[in-house]
Amino acid sequence: MALQLAHEAAARVIGTGRPGDRDTAQGLGADAFPDLESEKLEDVGEVDVVFDVIGGEILERSTAPVRPGGPLVTVAEPVTVHCRDGRAVFFVVEPDRNRLADLAQRLRDGRLKPIVGAVQPLAGAAAALSPAKRTPGKTIIRVAAAD
Ligand SMILES: NC(=O)c1ccc[n+]([C@@H]2O[C@H](COP(=O)([O-])OP(=O)(O)OC[C@H]3O[C@@H](n4cnc5c(N)ncnc54)[C@H](OP(=O)(O)O)[C@@H]3O)[C@@H](O)[C@H]2O)c1
Repeated sequence: MALQLAHEAAARVIGTGRPGDRDTAQGLGADAFPDLESEKLEDVGEVDVVFDVIGGEILERSTAPVRPGGPLVTVAEPVTVHCRDGRAVFFVVEPDRNRLADLAQRLRDGRLKPIVGAVQPLAGAAAALSPAKRTPGKTIIRVAAAD
């Protein structure tokens, strides 16, 4: 989602992930895709912003390309890492009706494409979202029966 929003804002976007995610990321607008298993993030050069959703060792490695003064923003965990000349911040989302409505409109327009891994009925929500169950992409919980 972040990649698509950045791409639509005309940023040059470098996506990262597992090697098997390359085609998906490039199909959604990534201009480059260093895979996290075999490539160094240092090699991508300087970037204005790093956005991390993974944390841990990947978050540590993600400090390398941040340009002087640039931010690294993670949503994964409180930051304990330091950027050489930039700043690392932990961001916690706040519900915002207008922004959610804007995202919903982008989904309807097809400007934002979700990666749906599974659709489950409400009764199966707890099992479907259990940390033990690993489903790639987003899991949709169907609350009402489809027409
Ligand atoms: N701070 C906030 O306000 C906020 C808001 C929403 C979410 N979060 C947190 O943000 C994190 C991400 O949420 P999400 O909904 O985006 O999760 P997600 O849909 O599971 O996306 C995480 C992505 O990172 C990949 N990934 C995980 N570990 C990896 C690794 N070691 N190497 C390469 N790729 C890896 C996953 O790939 P695989 O599927 O192949 O593992 C998946 O594509 C979670 O920790 C969530 O709790 C925080």
